[in-house]
Amino acid sequence: MSDMKSLDKKVILVTGAGGGIGRSIAIEAARAGAAVVVNDLGATLDGRNESSASAQAVVSEIEKLGGRAVANGDDVSEPEGAKAMVKQATDAFGRLDAVVNNAGILRDCFFHKMTYENFDAVLKVHLYGTFNVSHAAAVVMREQGTGSMIHMTSTSGLVGNFAQANYSSAKLGVAALSKSLALDLQRWNIRSNCIAPFAWSRMTSSIKVDSPEQEERVNRMREMKPEKIAPVALYLASDEAADTTGQIFAVRNNEIFLMSQPRPVRSVHRDEGWDIDSVARHAIPSLKASYIPLDVSADVFSWDPV
Ligand code: NAI
Repeated sequence: MSDMKSLDKKVILVTGAGGGIGRSIAIEAARAGAAVVVNDLGATLDGRNESSASAQAVVSEIEKLGGRAVANGDDVSEPEGAKAMVKQATDAFGRLDAVVNNAGILRDCFFHKMTYENFDAVLKVHLYGTFNVSHAAAVVMREQGTGSMIHMTSTSGLVGNFAQANYSSAKLGVAALSKSLALDLQRWNIRSNCIAPFAWSRMTSSIKVDSPEQEERVNRMREMKPEKIAPVALYLASDEAADTTGQIFAVRNNEIFLMSQPRPVRSVHRDEGWDIDSVARHAIPSLKASYIPLDVSADVFSWDPV
């Protein structure tokens, strides 16, 4: 294992850690001295099936490196599953210092074709999963008087994206949840931060390519390595980040961004109040200068909108 032991004696639970970003975080956490609960139910990308023992495979990798880890196959979208994985952490290692809410699925399609089931399934894993695991962890962390929660959000949620109404709703919900958790739990020394990662993984490799422009974008994405996300996640889990809470970082290869968060950008006031005409003729022209344009640069999807 590495000499860097910034997570010595820490216990960390990483959800969806059987592959992609979560796997890298779990392995690097172990290298940094943490005992790790590796959660993954081995879901297919759309979350419809559970397949392999991917969590156990990551545990074996960690053990080969000389680290400590246990595998967990519970479903984050089930409150009982979340409680069970937190219990496994305390049973195996006696405490729980950090959770990384990383598990995720995709069910992309243009909004008018999105079924209730596809909307619901994505919210269940990302937003409810983050709630469930954070909620179960908060009980333990409150008793300890310390803890760190790290949640994977996405620029899909922060700026919007094509064919991802379900996913972007969930991911902006995760960012909002994190902010409120940071406020509610600060008094017990529990921190909550988000990462919006960019990484080539099973999830991003599902993007369909049908034009040279899309191919170029996807080729750039191929260069974005999942292991580049781990240092920021582990910093947020460590005591070094004691004064960092309620923040959103984006991580793309060697770049770390602090993301802006919704704040009023401009306001107009009228003593006598507003009617439709004055809104149209006075308020909006003044506010329009500060409109945030729709970001269409993310259109790497070739979904048929018809
Ligand atoms: P991935 O598809 O490689 O890994 C997700 C893992 O979550 C899978 O191993 C899957 O089995 C597991 N999982 C799914 N449903 C689960 C459930 N109900 N309970 C437990 N485990 C479950 O995806 P990737 O790319 O590593 O993404 C990790 C996180 O980062 C996700 O939350 C994703 O939304 C987020 N993200 C990733 C981006 C990227 O560029 N890869 C961009 C923005 C956000």
